[in-house]
Amino acid sequence: MKPIQMVDLKGQYRKIKQQIDNSIQEVIDSAAFINGPEVKNFQKELEEYLDVKHVIPCANGTDALQIAMMGLGLEQGDEVITVDFTFAATVEVIALLKLTPVLVDVESATFNMDIDALKKAITPKTKAIVPVHLFGQCANMEAILEIAREHNLYVIEDNAQAIGADYTFSNGTTKKAGTMGNVGTTSFFPSKNLGCYGDGGAIFTNDDELANTLRGIVNHGMYKRYYHDVVGVNSRLDSIQATVLRAKLPNLDNYCDTRRKAAEYYNNAFADSENIITPITSNFTTHVFHQYTLNLIGVDRNALHQYLLDNGIPNAIYYPVPLHSQKAYADNRYNEDDFMVTNQLVQTVISLPMHTEFEEDQLQFITQTILDFIN
Ligand SMILES: Cc1ncc(COP(=O)(O)O)c(C=O)c1O
Repeated sequence: MKPIQMVDLKGQYRKIKQQIDNSIQEVIDSAAFINGPEVKNFQKELEEYLDVKHVIPCANGTDALQIAMMGLGLEQGDEVITVDFTFAATVEVIALLKLTPVLVDVESATFNMDIDALKKAITPKTKAIVPVHLFGQCANMEAILEIAREHNLYVIEDNAQAIGADYTFSNGTTKKAGTMGNVGTTSFFPSKNLGCYGDGGAIFTNDDELANTLRGIVNHGMYKRYYHDVVGVNSRLDSIQATVLRAKLPNLDNYCDTRRKAAEYYNNAFADSENIITPITSNFTTHVFHQYTLNLIGVDRNALHQYLLDNGIPNAIYYPVPLHSQKAYADNRYNEDDFMVTNQLVQTVISLPMHTEFEEDQLQFITQTILDFIN
């Protein structure tokens, strides 16, 4: 059996090596390292794939969130609602911009924003909602967009983990994750479903005016060379990353299918276990399994984590601490009773290896080792 990886980026690279190597060499030969034609080409191809009017490439997914919030003109003291159970980048940029983060609980079944908790958190100061499409499936966007309309709030989708997922509204319309709110963001961190070979990110919007504002902000607030109309940042996707992403984008749907097949193998193997809740996909979204995360019942999660490591099976705890309990984001505005689900999930979840390069004996070994531990 091949050694098991949490994410097998080398195996994925080997299959497209020639194409990647050639295109990287072409970028080097062209010396167009920043804002070269490859960035523009990738932008256009991603716009087409997502069926969105504007993609604004940038340096990483954290910048993408920050720039989106700057572009919407959010100001100090504005409240921005996001989830307690996610990677810290989401709340980090809210705090960095001196906006007020308001953390809410998630649903135990999907790990995504709890709609009742969202409704409860809205105040006259609320200006935006940031749903995170966690682990690869969309949050309940129909409900979130309805609430946003009712209260005149912006919706910024943090789509770092669900690029390629499809959302179906009750009227039958289907949209790609990240293209439903006022603005969506993503990360091309190497281990993401569409990952480059360094840092990268992008912002999506169908709003022409906002797109224009964002294009200036990513480039020092310049709309005309050396004329700085607004305070901006330096956040560019470089041409080498863009060319890697161009090679991988045509494979994205196939990558998502391959991940779904691995998830199905795991689901079937654990179907009879009373101690394991396998991921539940909401009926309005597809799941692209950025992570495959179990919720354990009556199992010593930390002991399983160590047992798997001892048996050569990488695994991870996403996430071990609720954001409202992190030193940087703790606040006496928060009440533990409002985070019952997150407080429990941080103790019971475990994410298994998930990537595009599994061989069946690896999946068999992973699932059998887990079942041996539990039984
Ligand atoms: C939900 C979420 N948001 C934002 C980010 C930030 O992306 P980046 O690492 O590209 O800055 C990540 C990356 O892990 C993420 O998982």
